[in-house]
Amino acid sequence: MSSPAEIKTRVSQLRERLNHHNYRYYVLDDPEIPDAEYDRLLRELQSLEAQYPDLVSPDSPTQRVGAEPLKAFGEVTHKLPMLSLANAFTEDQMRAFDKRIRALLDCSKPIEYAAEPKLDGLAISLLYQNGVLVRGATRGNGVKGEDITQNVRTIHTVPLRLVDHEYPTLVEVRAEVYISKQDFERLNASARERGERTFVNPRNAAAGSLRQLDPRLTAKRPLSVFCYGVGKLEGQNPPDRQSALLEQLRAWGLRVCPETEIVQGAEGCLHYYRSVSARRSALPYEIDGVVYKVNRLDWQRQLGSVSRAPRWAIAHKFPAQEELTQIVDVAFSVGRTGALTPTAQLKPVFVGGATVSNATLHNMDEIERKDVHIGDWVIIRRAGDVIPEVIRVVRERRPEHARRIQLPARCPVCNSDVIRPPGEAVARCTGSLICAAQRKEAIKHYASRRAMDIEGLGDKLVDQLVDRNLVNRIDDIYRLTADQWASLERMGEKSARNLIEALEESKRTTLANFIYALGIREVGEATAQALSLHFGNLESIMAADTNTLQEVMDIGPVVAEHITSFFQQELNREVIAALRELGVSWPNAEPAAGIAKPLTGHTYVLSGALTSLTREQAKQRLQKLGAKVSSSVSKKATAVIAGEDPGSKYEKAVALGVPIIGEDELMDLIGTNAD
Ligand code: IVH
Repeated sequence: MSSPAEIKTRVSQLRERLNHHNYRYYVLDDPEIPDAEYDRLLRELQSLEAQYPDLVSPDSPTQRVGAEPLKAFGEVTHKLPMLSLANAFTEDQMRAFDKRIRALLDCSKPIEYAAEPKLDGLAISLLYQNGVLVRGATRGNGVKGEDITQNVRTIHTVPLRLVDHEYPTLVEVRAEVYISKQDFERLNASARERGERTFVNPRNAAAGSLRQLDPRLTAKRPLSVFCYGVGKLEGQNPPDRQSALLEQLRAWGLRVCPETEIVQGAEGCLHYYRSVSARRSALPYEIDGVVYKVNRLDWQRQLGSVSRAPRWAIAHKFPAQEELTQIVDVAFSVGRTGALTPTAQLKPVFVGGATVSNATLHNMDEIERKDVHIGDWVIIRRAGDVIPEVIRVVRERRPEHARRIQLPARCPVCNSDVIRPPGEAVARCTGSLICAAQRKEAIKHYASRRAMDIEGLGDKLVDQLVDRNLVNRIDDIYRLTADQWASLERMGEKSARNLIEALEESKRTTLANFIYALGIREVGEATAQALSLHFGNLESIMAADTNTLQEVMDIGPVVAEHITSFFQQELNREVIAALRELGVSWPNAEPAAGIAKPLTGHTYVLSGALTSLTREQAKQRLQKLGAKVSSSVSKKATAVIAGEDPGSKYEKAVALGVPIIGEDELMDLIGTNAD
C-alpha cells in the first residue's frame, strides 16, 4: 500500500505527464506516445481520483470528460471588454483603412501589419491565473458573457495549465472556438446515421456544442481553438508587437493558427488576402476573411478604439459563400454511368464571388431528406471551385404553389427507361451507350488529364463529336481524320494536327491510367492503381472473378461486381480490343507479390514542377514502392519533394521542420527508370 504522500506525488506526476502528452498531441500535432499509453495513464489517474476525491483539482486532465450538467450558465464580466472588428469588403475599403491609419499616425512609410486568417467560429475568453485555467467565457455583449468554464475544459486544445513557467499572474486569452471541416462532416454523418438533425455549418455546430448545459455532451464534440490575442495581462509586460504576442501565446502552450504573417503596407495586406483566398478551400478549417492588425502595440494603444471596435484592425471579408434564393425549376442531367443528377435552376444570385443560377441537389434521396420543392426559398452554398449546392430549404417561406420534384420515368436525353433500384439513392438511365449523354461523359472521362491525358480534347469538342455522330465509341476518336477534326467548330488545321499528335502520344500509357480511363463504376484512380499493382496485366484483371478481385486492397463485393460485369459486356471487350489494335499500350509489371516495397510507412508530399517526370508519374512510382503520397504537409510527412516553384507547401515544411528534398534525391529514391 502506498503512503498518502506517495499517492499525491503519483497523482501530480500523472497530471503533468498527461497535460504534456495532451499538448504534444492536440496543440503540436506531434504525439510522443501511442494513444493506448495515454489511455492507460488517464485511467490510472481516474482511478486514483475516484479513491481519493480530495485530490481532484480543476487542472486535472480527468476534468476534460465533462462535469455534471448545469441549470443555467452564470454571468461573467470580462476584465477587459472583448472588442469586435470593423469590416472591409473591397480592396478599396482596405486601402482606405490603411490610409486612415497612416494619417492618424502621421506616418508616410508603409505600415507593418500582422495578417491573420479570420477564423469562422466563435469568440471566447480564457482566464489563466498563475498559469491555471480558471474560467472560460463567451463573448456575450463584449462586456459580459456566459461562464462556460466546464465546457471549455473539455476542449483538448485548451491547456488546463500553461506550459512555460514564466507565465503571468493573470492573463485573459482571446481565442476562436471552431470545428474543423473534416470533423464537421463526420459529426453530420453520424447524426444522419442516427436519424438526428444535422448542423448547417461548422460554425453553428461549434456554437451549439459550446452552449450545452451538459458538459459531457460538449466533451463528445470535436471542438478546437486558435488563440489570437490577449485582454487583461498582469505580472508581466506585453511584447512590443502583435506577432511577438502570438509567439508568446505559443510559448505558453496555446494553439495559434499557423497561417499568420507579417506584411508591409496595403499592398502586403492585399497580397496576403489573395494568397489566403487561393488556399482557403484547402485549409482544414473554415475562415470568412482575413484580419489585418497594426503590428506595433504602442501604435495600437495610440490609435485606440471607437464604439467597441479597434481603429488599429480591420477584417477583410471574403464574399459570402451562402445566399438565399428561389428554385425556379429542376432539371436532370445524365452522367457517365447513367446517373441522373437533379440540378436546381435558381433565380440568379451573387454568392462566393460569382453569379450562380444552377445548384446541385445531388440525388432523389437528398431531395427527400431536405424536403425540396420547386418554388422553395433555399440557402445555396458556393465554396471555391466546388459545384454550388442547395444546403437547405427555408420552410417558413414555402409559397402555396410549390411543387414536389418528380423523378422522370424516361431519360431526358435518350428516352430510355430510368430505374432506381430499391434502397439506392441514385436513379439511372438504362440506355448505356445508346444514350448520347453517357457516351459524351465516357469520352470526356477517357480523355481527362488523370486518365489518358489527351491534351486539347475538351468538353466542347466531345459534345460536337457525339452530336454530329462522328464518334460512337471511345475507339472512334483515334480514327478521325485531320479533315474531320478541322471541320469542328473552333478548330483550325493547326489545332487539328496538334490534336492528332496528342492522340498518338496518349497511346503510350500505364495500365493504371488505362483502367481508370475505362470509367468502370466506382473504380477511381486509387482502385485502378491497386488493380494494376496486384495483377500486373490487363488480361488477368479481365479474367478475374469477384473473389479474386476482392483480394485487392480496398475492393469489396460491390466494386468487384462492377468490375466483372464491365468486362463481361461484349461491347466493352470489343472497345478494349480495338483500342489495343489502334496502338494503345503500356508496360506490363510484375504482379505486386514479387515487388519489394522499401518505402512502406513513409509519406511524401510533392510540391512544384519536376523536370524529368510529371508529378503524377512520381506519385505512382512512390506508391508502387509502398510510400503514401499526401497532398498536404503535416509533421508526420517523411519529406516534402520540392520541384520548381514549390509554393506554400515548401513554406509549411520549413515551418514544421519537415525535411525538404529535391528532384535528384527523389530519383535516388524511386530509381531513374520511372515508367
Ligand atoms: S481580433 C480587437 N483576430 O472576429 C480585435 N478576431 O469581428 C478583436 N475572429 O469576435 C478580434 N479570427 O470572434 C481577431 N484572427 C482574429 C480573428 C478574430 C476570428 C473573430 C472573433 C471576433 C470577431 C470580430
